[in-house]
Amino acid sequence: MSRMLQRYKDGERMNHWFIALMFVLAGLSGLAFFHPALFFLSNLFGGGPWTRILHPFLGVLMFVAFLGLFLKLWRENVVTAADREWRQHMGDMLRGNKADLPPVGKYNFGQKAVFWLMALSLIVLLVTGLMFWRPYFAPSFAIGTLRIAVLLHAVAAVVLIVATIVHVYAAIWVKGTVRAMTRGTVSEEWAKVNHPLWHREMTQGK
Ligand code: HEM
Repeated sequence: MSRMLQRYKDGERMNHWFIALMFVLAGLSGLAFFHPALFFLSNLFGGGPWTRILHPFLGVLMFVAFLGLFLKLWRENVVTAADREWRQHMGDMLRGNKADLPPVGKYNFGQKAVFWLMALSLIVLLVTGLMFWRPYFAPSFAIGTLRIAVLLHAVAAVVLIVATIVHVYAAIWVKGTVRAMTRGTVSEEWAKVNHPLWHREMTQGK
């Protein structure tokens, strides 16, 4: 069996799974208000009024938790010239021709794109959500402004949900990735194949 490399610390993993939990709870409570056909979801939170009370707090908790992970990982997600070259070879990645891909560091272009989409959609969700949070901030805005805020909130939620579906699918699709977030470690083989520059960085001098 190949040697294991540390990819995430305990604190980072707990932070990540707290975000995932808040994403599910804020998502389900938000969808309950998205369309009458989904209102039955409010039963999970103790009915309509409780869902309405809890949803903004769950959203704020998700944002704050994401901010924690964001501050730790943003530098490693900055898109570089090498990433742009990798993007040209995205077809090879999807066909499984990993040998033809330019070497990448800790994250590949796809992961970085998802990371920034998550960050952007969460900022839009926070700002717009705060704007129409009754009774606190909504009275400070004109109704026309609030309507635009509600629309942007829904668009950002769809973007976040789609980005997260892609994120989870990719994590399961690339074998050996999920354990990075469950155990904190990945096999050296996994690192060599998927993130060769990170592998070199981790094993240099060892
Ligand atoms: C069941 C749901 C989820 C699963 C199975 C999952 C799985 C994973 C895995 C395996 C990694 C490590 C990837 C790697 O190191 O190459 C990861 C990283 C990460 N996940 Fe998730 N995740 C889930 C939900 C979420 C949600 C809801 C968010 C945010 C809204 C999120 C945000 C992140 C971020 C920011 C990273 C770090 C990657 C980067 O910085 O580019 N995850 N996730």
